[in-house]
Formats: sequence, structure tokens, C-alpha cells
Amino acid sequence: MIGPDRITLADLPLREDLRGEQPYGAPQLDVPVLLNVNENPYPPSEAVVADIARAVAEAARTVNRYPDREFLPLRADLADFLAEDTGVALSAEQVWAANGSNEVMQQLLQAFGGPGRTAVSFAPTYSMYPEYARNTHTRWIAGHREADFSIDLDHAVNLISEHQPSVVILTSPNNPTGTALPPAVVESVLAIAPGIVVVDEAYAEFRRAGVSSAVSLLPSYGNLVVTRTMSKAFAYAGGRLGYLASSRAVVDAVRIVRLPYHLSAIQQAAARAALSHRAEALAHIERLRIERDATASWLAGMHLQVAASDANFVLFGRFADRHEVWQLLLDRGVLIREVGPEGWLRVSIGSESEMHAFRAALSAVLAGATVTMEGSFIHLALAGSTDSTADTPVRKDGGDPVGAPKTEGARR
Ligand SMILES: Cc1ncc(COP(=O)(O)O)c(C=O)c1O
Repeated sequence: MIGPDRITLADLPLREDLRGEQPYGAPQLDVPVLLNVNENPYPPSEAVVADIARAVAEAARTVNRYPDREFLPLRADLADFLAEDTGVALSAEQVWAANGSNEVMQQLLQAFGGPGRTAVSFAPTYSMYPEYARNTHTRWIAGHREADFSIDLDHAVNLISEHQPSVVILTSPNNPTGTALPPAVVESVLAIAPGIVVVDEAYAEFRRAGVSSAVSLLPSYGNLVVTRTMSKAFAYAGGRLGYLASSRAVVDAVRIVRLPYHLSAIQQAAARAALSHRAEALAHIERLRIERDATASWLAGMHLQVAASDANFVLFGRFADRHEVWQLLLDRGVLIREVGPEGWLRVSIGSESEMHAFRAALSAVLAGATVTMEGSFIHLALAGSTDSTADTPVRKDGGDPVGAPKTEGARR
């Protein structure tokens, strides 16, 4: 027998398809300006904190009992919010929630994917999707997006006709590009998809005026699923609450695979309290939209390429060595994300002062270099040495020092 101190993963009967895989997540670094995981920069007010604490204390009185497995009051609150946001009335039974929309998506693949089945999406997109597919033994097929990150309808129709997927995942606005999908694309996919069509709307509340939500299509399509999250617009990433809206039949399917009592009584109570104060969190959305559009204009003014965004982040580039730019910003205390197609970087939209810090840092990086073009890539020739040893941030999670995260998808 190998003792617990000496046993390694290689000694364990890990599934063959998981060998060599790493648990994934964006680096969690201790830096002054965190603009890397599309969080909402505005924490709850003391009044909201007090109400969440009260609700949790109340739930704690009966924590000797299992929680309400169906959590219909929370589902009704979420349906109320969707009606406010989209004008579409849904019943509580058409809504389902879990620990983040990550868990909702994995439950969908557990119910509708599986061995011998296929899920289709269009890259570049949220790179957790292939992991949910791997976890559920679902074959993963990624089509492509156009140069402006839109989805070509003929390509989508051909890919779906060829692979007959039981699940199609469309992301609107898409991560990491910020691209929203026109309803016509979603409807054309719904017209030919043989299975369910999931529209991941994790960032939908940030969409520009006039951009519609796929929630408006729910009354017409029983196989349409729209997923949302409280992590972004509701400034509730730490609370872990994601949800879906669909037909009752889809919710019934997910109820088969969910773990019993997956949402604790504490979590249900806290989420309901946070939702009852949603006006406060949602009031910041307009500020974030203004800051996003200002950031995109500023980046374009710096002669950078900028992807049109309906989300709380902006993808910009393209740099011959994006890792170098990422590192130089980090050296100045600003953490953004090295993500998406070659040469692009993604900055989440923070508060006015955080975005000021980002602009100052990027201006300094560009001013400190001779900038030339290599094809469509920007090349920076740095003048002398950089100050890359100054204030080297340390990882909160005790992992490797900040180094060279390689090209990666958008995890958050
Ligand atoms: C497109 C997309 N979907 C889903 C999620 C998952 O969000 P959460 O699990 O926090 O609800 C994210 C996180 O960043 C995302 O970017």
C-alpha cells in the first residue's frame, strides 16, 4: 500500500480521459486592480449585507432539516425578475437554479448529452463548455465564428444538420468577445436543431438598448433553454446562483439528474434576500455600460482593434506578444485576461477609478515602447528594461508565482 503522503494521481484509477487534465480557473492574484473575471466591481451596501445576514440567520434556525428541494419561492422570484427584464411572464415551474450557471449547464448536459450524443457550439466561446461535455461523456463539436465574431447562419445550419446534436449552445453576449446574437440566428437554429438549444445569457443584462433577449422566444419553443446568472449583473458571484428558464418539460428533465438538496437552505435564503434588493445592484448596470462604451472608444482611439461588446468586458488587440502586454499591465497592478484568439486581451469593466488605472497603465505600456505593425498584429519594442520586477504580485491561492499563463479560453 502506498501511504497518503506518497500516493500520486498516476497511482489512482482516474478515468482515462481525465489523465493529464488540470483543474482550471483564472489566476487569483493579490493585485490592486482586478479586471480579469468579469465580476461586478460594486459590492452590496451595508443595508443589503444586513438583510442577507438576517435571512441566513433565520434559515440557520432550521438547519437541522434538509432544505426545500424544489425551492419554488426562489424560482418565483427569479421568474419575476425575468418578467421585469424582458416582459415575458413565466411560471416558477419554468425556472430552475443551481450553484452558478456552470452547474446549470452541466446538469443540462447530464440530462441531454451523454455517450453517443453530441453538443455543438461556435468558437471562440466560453471554454468551460468542452469541460462540461468531457465530464458528461458528450462529444464536443465547435464550429467557428466570423472575423467580427458573429455566427454565419449557413455555417451554423450545415454544422447542425451534419452532426445532429442533442444540445446546441449559443452564447449571447458571447464570452470572450462580447458579441450578442440577433434573434433571427437563434430562431434559424431552433428551426433545424433536433434537440435542445441553450442560449447562455450570463451577461444579458448588460446588452445595449434594442438588443433582445432569447427569453422573448420561450413562449414559442419548448426546446429552448435560456441560462442566466446572478454572478455578473447582480454582483453576486460569491453567492453562486445561476438559473435557467425553459419549458416545464426541460425543468423536469434536469430535476432527474440534479443531486438531492443541491441548493442549501442558507443559499436559498441569501439569494432571495439579494434578489429582493436587486434594484440596488441593477442601478449600477448603466454606469458599467457607459464605462464599457467609453473603454471601447478609448481603446479604438489608441488605434487598437476592439470587438463590439454587449457585456461587461471588452476584447481588444491584437498584439504580436499579448502575454508581454498582459505582464506589463500586471507589473503596474492591473490584472486583465489573456484569452480568446491569438493576439487578443480581455478587460472586464470595473469602477471608474479602476478603468482610469487600466487606461493609465496601458498608456504607459504603449508609451514605453516603439510600436510597429507586423501584419495585423501590433509589435512592441520595449525601450530598455521593463520594471517587471517591481511589486511582483503573489498568488492568494499559494500557487505558482505570476508567470506565463498560456493561451486559454474564457473561464469566467
Ligand atoms: C458565458 C458564461 N457562462 C457562464 C458563466 C458561469 O457563471 P456562474 O457559474 O458564475 O453563474 C460564465 C462565467 O464567467 C460565462 O462567462
